Amino acid sequence: MERTYLMVKPDGVQRGLIGEIVGRLERKGLTLVGAKLMQVTGEQAARHYAEHAGKDFYDLLLSFITSGPVFAMVWQGDQAVAAARQLIGKTNGLEAAPGTIRGDYTLHTRYNLIHGSDSVASAEREIGIFFQPSELVSYEKLIQAWI
Ligand code: PPS
Repeated sequence: MERTYLMVKPDGVQRGLIGEIVGRLERKGLTLVGAKLMQVTGEQAARHYAEHAGKDFYDLLLSFITSGPVFAMVWQGDQAVAAARQLIGKTNGLEAAPGTIRGDYTLHTRYNLIHGSDSVASAEREIGIFFQPSELVSYEKLIQAWI
């Protein structure tokens, strides 16, 4: 079963959208296997966004993600990475399709509510930055056969 790292960013926490976002992921049929409200450290932010180092928006991205609490999550399911990215929508809220999280709730590229891993390899790396193995649970929903 595939796992992905998702994070409600500081704007989503401030706007009270944690429940809305979690609800959409649950209703899709993904399974939450780890979650916590946390303050991202500078070191975690730099590791997480290492691939963007040197880009013009890098400093803004790091200061934003460390500006307030985030809701860090690990979700599990069949093709969880792609399924979550589909629910999240395009990076720029203006381009994200209606019906996606970003398409419904943001106009921004920086304040775009949620991060989702872009590949299985990224997911493994990102989960390792934000979670200890002991913080993740392993279980199957009894209704999984219907999803
Ligand atoms: S790229 O260059 O195509 O790889 O970038 P992209 O995938 O579109 O975005 C990567 C993450 O950077 C954030 N981003 C920005 N933050 C601040 N300011 C600006 N201008 C900006 N542009 C992109 C974007 O929200 C992505 O964050 P994550 O958390 O990965 O979704």
